[in-house]
Amino acid sequence: MRHADTLADRHVLVVGADDPSLCQLPALSLALQGDDASVPGVAATLLPTLPAPCDLVVVILPKSREQLAFWLAAVRGQLQTTTEVWLVGAANGGVRGGVSTLETLADEPASQFDSARHCKLFSSSLSPASFMLSDHEQRWALDGLSIVSYPGVFSHGRLDAGSALLLDTLPADGFSGAVLDVGCGAGVISATLAKRGARATAVDVSAAAVAATRQTLQRNGLEGMVLLSDLYAAVDGSFDVIVTNPPFHDGTRRTTDITRRLIAEAPARLRAHGELWLVANQGLPYGDWLRDAFARVEVAAENRHFRVWRAWR
Ligand SMILES: C[S@@+](CC[C@H](N)C(=O)[O-])C[C@H]1O[C@@H](n2cnc3c(N)ncnc32)[C@H](O)[C@@H]1O
Repeated sequence: MRHADTLADRHVLVVGADDPSLCQLPALSLALQGDDASVPGVAATLLPTLPAPCDLVVVILPKSREQLAFWLAAVRGQLQTTTEVWLVGAANGGVRGGVSTLETLADEPASQFDSARHCKLFSSSLSPASFMLSDHEQRWALDGLSIVSYPGVFSHGRLDAGSALLLDTLPADGFSGAVLDVGCGAGVISATLAKRGARATAVDVSAAAVAATRQTLQRNGLEGMVLLSDLYAAVDGSFDVIVTNPPFHDGTRRTTDITRRLIAEAPARLRAHGELWLVANQGLPYGDWLRDAFARVEVAAENRHFRVWRAWR
C-alpha cells in the first residue's frame, strides 16, 4: 500500500498472497495467487499463473527458500519477456536469504527500495526460462509406496515422526470403510490406508498439499478423492473413520484453534460408532477436547514426543 502510486498503472500478479487484505492493492489489474484455500479472494493453486498482461510480479516471502525458488522458477517458465519482480518479507523472517534465492534466478542484483514496519521490499527482474515441475518435486519411499511432495508441503521429502507413530498404530489390515484424512499433506496417511483397503478421502487447505496427495495416489495406482478444503467445508457425506495428524500452524503462527475445530466438528462427520484417530505432540490439550466431543476416548499409543488418540462417537 505504500507503493500505491506505482501499482496504480501496473498489471500485477501477487504470488504467495495468503492475506485477504492484498485484495485492496490499487493496481490497474490484480491477480492474487496463494496456497491457502481459506483466504477469500485469492486463487489457491500449486503454481502461480501469469495473467496477460502482467508487468510486475510481487512475491510475498514464503516460509521456505525452496518454495520461493519454486515459485520464481514457475513464473520464469511463463514469462514472454523480461519482467520486474518485487520480493517483500519481514526483516526477521529471512528476507535476506530470500534475496539470495531471488538473485540466483534474477537478471540483476536485487535492490532494496523500501523498509518499513519491520519489512523490506526488494526489486529485480526475471527473464523467460524453461520450467519443469518434476525438477522441484521430492519423491521418497514408504513401505512400498512412492510419496510425492512439493516445496511448502508439510514434512517435505520425509515422514514426520508423529505420522510414523500413527501409521504404526493404525490396524495393519486397515479399514474396509470410508476414511477421511484431514490435513493430508503429501498423502502419506491416505496412500497407506488406501493400500490397506480403505476408501480414502483426503482434504487439505493447502493447494500444494492437495496436488502432492493427488500425485502420490496416482503414482501408486491408488484410488481416492482429494479435496481442497478448510477442514470439512468441501466434504460431503459421513465416514467410518477420520484419521489426522492435525495442523499446529496457521501460516507461520502456531495455533491449536484449527485442531479444536477439527475435533469439535468430527462427530457430525462420522457414522454411528465411527472413530477418530489423531496424533499430536505430548502436552497439547487435545484429550480434554476429545472427551468433550466423543463418547469414549483412549490413548492408543505414545512415546516421548507423541500421543495417538482414538475416540469413538
Ligand atoms: C501436521 S500436517 C500433516 C500432514 C500429513 N497428514 C502428514 O502426516 O504428513 C497438517 C496438515 O494440515 C493442513 N491444514 C492446515 N490447516 C488446515 C485446514 N484449516 N483445513 C485442512 N487442512 C489444513 C496443512 O496444510 C498440513 O498439510
